[in-house]
Amino acid sequence: MATRILMVCLGNICRSPLAEGILQSKVNPEKIMVDSAGTGSYHLGNKPDERSIAVSRKYGIDISHQRCRQFSPKDFDNFDVIYTMDRSNYRNVISLARNEDQAQKVKMLLEEVESEIREVPDPYYGPGDGFEKVFHLIDKACSEIARKLENQP
Ligand code: 4NP
Repeated sequence: MATRILMVCLGNICRSPLAEGILQSKVNPEKIMVDSAGTGSYHLGNKPDERSIAVSRKYGIDISHQRCRQFSPKDFDNFDVIYTMDRSNYRNVISLARNEDQAQKVKMLLEEVESEIREVPDPYYGPGDGFEKVFHLIDKACSEIARKLENQP
């Protein structure tokens, strides 16, 4: 069965849609399924933020088909690994885990790379280049995740 990976941020319109699109572009979709969700419910059903759509398009990835949804405790059953973008998302998701098995599935995305930056900053209220920076942080982590997944039996 395919490995299922869920990317989580607060709004599911800026960071986690980028993480979904970037990781999915680096792996075989028959083997690895990637989805994303937000801990908040402000933008349910919306497309990703235009600035996330633009920066991913610049690097050849189309995320415009994605629609915002909220993280649900059922996601613990439906996904193998849950990556959160920052500590606040991490705390919110892990507080919903019903057992240790579920808690073990939750990681911070930047744990996957050697980086002084531990969190993917929220670019929503910042200037446009925040999205460029966030794209590259996520891209680096997703390259590492893809490499590890390729090497797994
Ligand atoms: P995201 O960014 O968590 O990367 O999708 C945000 C988007 C919207 C809001 C906050 C963060 N908001 O408060 O509406």
